[in-house]
Amino acid sequence: MTSSELWTRTTAERYDAEENEMTSPAVLGPTVEFLAALAGDGRALEFAIGTGRVGVPLRERGVAVVGIELSEPMVDVLRRKVDEATLPVAIGDMATTRVDGEFSLVYLVYNTISNLLTQEEQVECFRNAARHLAPGGRFVIELGVPPLRWLPPGQVAVPFDVSDDHLGFDTFELAEQILTSHHFTRDGDSYRPGRSRHRYAWPAELDLMARIAGLELEQRVADWDGSPFTDDSTKHVSVWRKPANSA
Ligand SMILES: C[S@@+](CC[C@H](N)C(=O)[O-])C[C@H]1O[C@@H](n2cnc3c(N)ncnc32)[C@H](O)[C@@H]1O
Repeated sequence: MTSSELWTRTTAERYDAEENEMTSPAVLGPTVEFLAALAGDGRALEFAIGTGRVGVPLRERGVAVVGIELSEPMVDVLRRKVDEATLPVAIGDMATTRVDGEFSLVYLVYNTISNLLTQEEQVECFRNAARHLAPGGRFVIELGVPPLRWLPPGQVAVPFDVSDDHLGFDTFELAEQILTSHHFTRDGDSYRPGRSRHRYAWPAELDLMARIAGLELEQRVADWDGSPFTDDSTKHVSVWRKPANSA
């Protein structure tokens, strides 16, 4: 039983329809190139593959991709783009579901490790990635840096998007390390509300989870274009490696 919220049919149908920068060639191009370089001649496993935003173009780029995904409605949308033989997907929890074979790359993008709402499950997710990796293989995570610098004492929310079509802000349960993202998306003349809960974690906590799972930090950059990770970075792309001599 996972703590993740289940993505519904309505959310799945909207996921690809609502264009944002994450579906733009400017983001997807460097994402696919970064992941393809790490996969090399091996196979790639995407945890929480969703509608295939990244998995489908990576497959088209020539990498053999397999997915794990909790939400059947999200996979139904993916199936309109690619069949099971070309891109197999197992329905299940990325922290526990096992698929056949070894992979040179396991990846989990777009902040999705934070959908697991407990530290224990996030550790299990790292362990599950390590289980699927061949010796020398890599686990890649794309995740926002917790935006706590913007939360002075007494303030309850941090806005992350204020535009004509979308208002977004985060609220925090600091003792529990949980943030809730609130969205108000323009729908005709009104705004449609939405929200999602996340367990945020600093990069250093992820490094510890990786060590528990037997993985070593190889690289941390600020984005898919490889720009340096700094004090002011708002997200990171981190790469951990399973030692070549591991069982
Ligand atoms: C932000 S979307 C990312 C989808 C895709 N990776 C992408 O980059 O577009 C988050 C996805 O994670 C899935 N998800 C959430 N918790 C999960 C879990 N515990 N195991 C597997 N999938 C999960 C959701 O169903 C949803 O499809």
